[in-house]
Amino acid sequence: AAPVQVDLAGIAQEQMVTYAWRGQPVFVVHRSARQLALLQKHDDRLLDPDSKVDQQPAWARNPHRSQRPAWLVLVGLCTHLGCVPDYVGSLGREPFDPDWPGGFFCPCHKSRYDLAGRVYSGVPAPRNLLVPPYRFLDDGRLEIG
Ligand code: FES
Repeated sequence: AAPVQVDLAGIAQEQMVTYAWRGQPVFVVHRSARQLALLQKHDDRLLDPDSKVDQQPAWARNPHRSQRPAWLVLVGLCTHLGCVPDYVGSLGREPFDPDWPGGFFCPCHKSRYDLAGRVYSGVPAPRNLLVPPYRFLDDGRLEIG
């Protein structure tokens, strides 16, 4: 399948845009400094905080799980049974639970992920959301695939 090009200039801070790649949704989130600060807070409820379980590129095994901290790129399929999670935690869409700083919420069986797609323990999803292959073409463009 052909790679998908993303124009980063069109994505506002804290906005998420969904692209279709190989028949699956890929989320691109422009994380703000506020959101990145939330990721630095160690949360021991995360199941796999360093993304050790899945075969992920080395640059995705850190709290922001991306090549550049502001840009999060994830396959938008819940690792439980493949529903598409909702993005929660932008300024217009605050998390509904005071103990959860936001991220992704799967409406099918209530799995939760943080703002880097890392899954919380105690939910049905067994793994972090997958990071697909991508690269920056320049400061304004990203290529998925
Ligand atoms: Fe997401 Fe079951 S498919 S929690």
